Amino acid sequence: MIEIKIRREDKIESYRVPEGITVLEALEYINKNYNADIKFRASCRNCQCGSCALTINGKPRLACETVVENNMLIEPLRGFRVVKDLVVDREPYYKKLNSIRNYLIRKKYPEDIEEIDDSVVEKSREVRSCIDCLSCLSVCPVRENYNFPGATIMRQILRFSLDVRDEEDRERIAFFENLYCCTTCSSCVEVCPMNIELERAIEKLRERAFKKGYYLDEHKKVRENIIKNNRSVPKIDKSFLEQCKEFYKAENEKLRVAFFTGCLIDYRNINVGFDTIKVLLAHNISVLIPKDQLCCGSPMLRTGQKDVAERLMEKNIEILESLDVDYIVTICAGCGSTLKNDYKLKNVKDISEILYKFEREYKPLPITVTYHDPCHLRRGQNIYKEPREIIKRIPNIKFIDSQPKCCGAGGGVRSGVKELSNILGKKRAKELRGVDKVITICPFCELHLKDQGLDVINLVSLIRRVI
Ligand code: SF4
Ligand code: SF4
Ligand code: FES
Repeated sequence: MIEIKIRREDKIESYRVPEGITVLEALEYINKNYNADIKFRASCRNCQCGSCALTINGKPRLACETVVENNMLIEPLRGFRVVKDLVVDREPYYKKLNSIRNYLIRKKYPEDIEEIDDSVVEKSREVRSCIDCLSCLSVCPVRENYNFPGATIMRQILRFSLDVRDEEDRERIAFFENLYCCTTCSSCVEVCPMNIELERAIEKLRERAFKKGYYLDEHKKVRENIIKNNRSVPKIDKSFLEQCKEFYKAENEKLRVAFFTGCLIDYRNINVGFDTIKVLLAHNISVLIPKDQLCCGSPMLRTGQKDVAERLMEKNIEILESLDVDYIVTICAGCGSTLKNDYKLKNVKDISEILYKFEREYKPLPITVTYHDPCHLRRGQNIYKEPREIIKRIPNIKFIDSQPKCCGAGGGVRSGVKELSNILGKKRAKELRGVDKVITICPFCELHLKDQGLDVINLVSLIRRVI
């Protein structure tokens, strides 16, 4: 027997249940054997109906598929009003579905059976696999703080948009449901039991919306910057690429990498670019810097402007694939995620992956720091252990860990929906306060959190101080 805990209103109750059973079976066992009368929802018992989703050990999970563990904490799904015990009010979700016109809309209905090509059906297969568990809604930082219906609603709009029979202007509906408020943080993707790539669905919907003219002016400005300069931000001064050499040879070369700078290092955080060179050389890594590299295209891909992104992608791939290096190194979470997941290049590494493998002694640094996980590094590249371990290798540093949370800079929200990005940035800054420095590996997060008054630096700039 093991012990599990259940939140009932403000109380937490403990029960002993048999090992190896599911949470759903445990709840039934408790009601039968303890006469506890705990209220919960379930129907199919087979991961099909989505009604049994609960917050289990802090994360949304299906009760019918999750096996109990000792000391497990079972709570109602977060982000919804609790009706009783583990039952939450799903009504706001159903109301929202109604408001997006959750049915096929056609001017004229066919008189006979209609055949739809398999390839068309296939296109929407993934977004049709939702089981309405609402897990994605329960973790969405934007839905929690803003008028945004959440991932599954956008997914459902895309489903209709992809349906050849539907004649409603679905992109217009999405636009007025705040399509451009998603930060593409992927928190929803992480918890979806059907593994739906929800942030990709939102990007796809944005792509369709953009083509129809439903876009934000600020995103169009970023597009114009890229078309003009191949950079997402306007040039202010001499860029990093104009100032650096093309090749820096390490004395005792152990590895040779190409440095993919990204727009903000090239045009704004130029010192971080030079810190990167110094840090890599200090680890006996030679650095090649292709001068003709362009914006990775992430700001375009995330905001539905795939046409521009494809041109950048093609050119960058041509440049990067011609290099004789062991790895391509990024120090921007967005670039790294784009090169790995959109370009599908195999030899791309975030700076933390490289430094993690090259154990080197660092000088002591008696300061207190915390680490902010960029969404596109933690969820986009599954990197969260490496930066923490590197920081902890610095003698005398006091590391206070922080729970991952989106800062509101990504997905075109910092440029396009300032009010929302400030709300999320302020909230995140509050959680990160109380240390000397906040470390991160994303110039967008860095700038955004600096705007909230925090002292933020890229991991490479911290390491530069201790080599
Ligand atoms: S990617 Fe993040 S912001 Fe966008 S819908 Fe999912 S959880 Fe919400
Ligand atoms: S999209 Fe995934 S997480 Fe969201 S309601 Fe559907 S199945 Fe659940
Ligand atoms: S009871 Fe239907 S998904 Fe769990």
